[in-house]
Amino acid sequence: MAKYIMSFSQKTSNDKNMTDKKPELSDAMKKKLEPRKFTKNPILGTKFTIAVSSAKGGVGKSTFATNLALALKQIGCKVGLLDADIYGPSIPKMFDINEKPKSDGQTLTPITKYDIQCMSIGFLADQQTPMIWRGPMVTSAIKTFTQKVGWKDLDFIIVDMPPGTGDTQLTFSQEIKMDGAIIVSTPQEVALLDVKRGIKMFDKLGVKILGLVDNMSYFTGDDGKKYKIFGEGGVKRTAEEFEKEFLGEIPINPEVGKCGDEGKPIVEANPEHEISKIYLDFARKIKSTYL
Ligand SMILES: Nc1ncnc2c1ncn2[C@@H]1O[C@H](COP(=O)(O)OP(=O)(O)OP(=O)(O)O)[C@@H](O)[C@H]1O
Ligand SMILES: [Mg+2]
Repeated sequence: MAKYIMSFSQKTSNDKNMTDKKPELSDAMKKKLEPRKFTKNPILGTKFTIAVSSAKGGVGKSTFATNLALALKQIGCKVGLLDADIYGPSIPKMFDINEKPKSDGQTLTPITKYDIQCMSIGFLADQQTPMIWRGPMVTSAIKTFTQKVGWKDLDFIIVDMPPGTGDTQLTFSQEIKMDGAIIVSTPQEVALLDVKRGIKMFDKLGVKILGLVDNMSYFTGDDGKKYKIFGEGGVKRTAEEFEKEFLGEIPINPEVGKCGDEGKPIVEANPEHEISKIYLDFARKIKSTYL
């Protein structure tokens, strides 16, 4: 046994080859260490891609995205709706879609409902099946939805973003040509904290922020009084702080939630409703910015 144990002090035949000089990196290694450059691919079949984001969960992103898509359609645009929320897709429920998209082995065909071309991971998996996926799988799904879906002749694709500042936001910002992001928030301080992080993320990644929307800004009681349940003016102040446009307010209205739950968002179910008119105003603003 002892003959296999060599003392550390004992010199070996390799020692004369050892040097203090750092080895030169090979060209291939140098290339690997360079900061990665991303190419931003446009989503084929659409003119403009607009994300509805927030970073904060549950502030009404999906409600806003679905109603904005329908409002844009109502003012004559051709619209697609891409549910980018892999872990918590909402479009199947909010648009009451229960069918699976067809595929020719290369391309997935979006499902058209209310004249909107839609795609969601929820169309491919059972509604109650959780997507237990690591980040790279999410990135891969996003790439499929943006590059391998047969979106056709669209003016706008509205992307319903998940909460947070993670893989999905990063993939969209770095690898997909995004024309703008709308930030939705409630006026509550705890929501705004996340929203500020979301704004900084898009700024850092060079995505243009079209503006901020104050959702659930107040509730009008039977007495006609406005109740500012989540505080007042926080979203507008945040917009000013970050030098972004303040796009406007949407009050709390139980009809909004009810229509979403029934699979026919308020703009489609009741275009004359006062809330639908607010979404139509947002849509006109977006249309005039781009078309
Ligand atoms: N203006 C509003 N008035 C009343 N209810 C609203 C309004 N906006 C959104 N809601 C309700 O708030 C809840 C959260 O909305 P939504 O699912 O759109 O949020 P989200 O930001 O997409 O959430 P997540 O982060 O989980 O994706 C839903 O029940 C929705 O119906
Ligand atoms: Mg959502």
